[in-house]
Amino acid sequence: MLVGIIGAGPAGLLLGRLLHRAGIDAVVFESRDRAHVEQRQRAGILEQATVDALRTAGAADRLEREGIAHDGIDLVFDGTAHRVDFLGTTGARVWIYAQTEVVKDLIALRIADGLPLLFDTPVTAVSDLDGRPTIHYGDQTLTCDYIVGCDGFHGITRPLVPGTGYELSFPHSWLGILADAPPMHHELVYAHSRRGFALASMRSPSVSRMYLQVDNGEDPAAWPDDRIWSELARRFGDHQPNRGPITAKSVLPMRAWVAPTLRHGNLFLAGDAGHIVPPTGAKGLNLAVADVVLLAASLAERHRTGSADLLDAYSDSCLRRVWRAEQFSHFMTTTLHVVPGQSEFDTQLQVARLRGIVSSRAAATSLAEEYTGITPAS
Ligand code: FAD
Ligand code: DHB
Repeated sequence: MLVGIIGAGPAGLLLGRLLHRAGIDAVVFESRDRAHVEQRQRAGILEQATVDALRTAGAADRLEREGIAHDGIDLVFDGTAHRVDFLGTTGARVWIYAQTEVVKDLIALRIADGLPLLFDTPVTAVSDLDGRPTIHYGDQTLTCDYIVGCDGFHGITRPLVPGTGYELSFPHSWLGILADAPPMHHELVYAHSRRGFALASMRSPSVSRMYLQVDNGEDPAAWPDDRIWSELARRFGDHQPNRGPITAKSVLPMRAWVAPTLRHGNLFLAGDAGHIVPPTGAKGLNLAVADVVLLAASLAERHRTGSADLLDAYSDSCLRRVWRAEQFSHFMTTTLHVVPGQSEFDTQLQVARLRGIVSSRAAATSLAEEYTGITPAS
């Protein structure tokens, strides 16, 4: 069996690794160069199931050494911090290990194994999806048994499945920064304030990753470092950021989109090509990993036994989990962000919702369950 994988983000790289371990050949095509793919700043939180998948794939050596386990988060509202305990309520935890590092580890393994990974090679088209599907790149083609679109939200495969996707845009964006400054707290802090949302995360004991709600279309150049630090300070209340040189600054729009199906003939979609979430619940990378774990098992069953049962169920199984993650991400986003022109009534409802979470063990447990891992509904 030969699988053509379009995209060397976490979805495509992990799929390639899992297929190799199942004895299935794959070629990974990536439009950008290696340095670009390894340095693109994105997600930072891994659910336990994601860590387990990387362990099973033999790709967790550095993660075991450098990943930072988090057993809860702080929620700040009305200027006061309240802890939500994950480990104590659910027995589960999450890990800080940046997407850049996951990608670096998977690329290094694929290269060490001598497996095909073509950087600077954009796929321009795919054809014959109902027969022997074919990938077109440069002036060449590769005919496969299956093609998997792991080419993200701006790739070429997302529009190729039948039907129209389901979309929701939000009236705000995030300004994300990296700073050479120790994290302001040992766990993540999600802050609701009347000036807008803020999030304090980290990349290491000496590097902070912080996000600030800003208007759509905001220019990062309008945010000199001093303005960022003073705005963060006003939004975090009890906790206060440690200042340090800001080394990266970018604005991220927030959008939700779900494909109507993750399959067209012998083309499958996985990861951001099939669905995106607003980042407030830290689900994007974890969903991408869950997709490819299931897809790899489905292709392995097909390869080993000839049965297509798992492959036929792939899209529905993934979309059930995706919609639960959309629901959680939407809940976190709408509970913590202040939309332009929002009434005081709506703000009070948000604060009441947050107070409900931190004053009820049942409500806190529910948030902890969804934050630490979403399993597909049966
Ligand atoms: P991607 O990582 O997007 O990888 C797709 C790959 O396909 C890319 O390398 C791309 O270059 C390649 N490609 C595209 N078109 C082609 C083509 N025609 N031919 C060959 N290759 C192609 N999630 C969080 O949880 N927290 C965050 O803070 C967060 N921040 C994010 C910031 C940004 C700017 C983005 C875009 C996403 C963010 N996410 C975040 C979501 C998370 O990073 C994604 O869910 C995750 O990257 C999905 O992995 P993927 O492999 O499906 O897609
Ligand atoms: C990070 C990003 C998120 O969207 C989130 O909810 C938590 C952490 C991060 O980049 O570290």
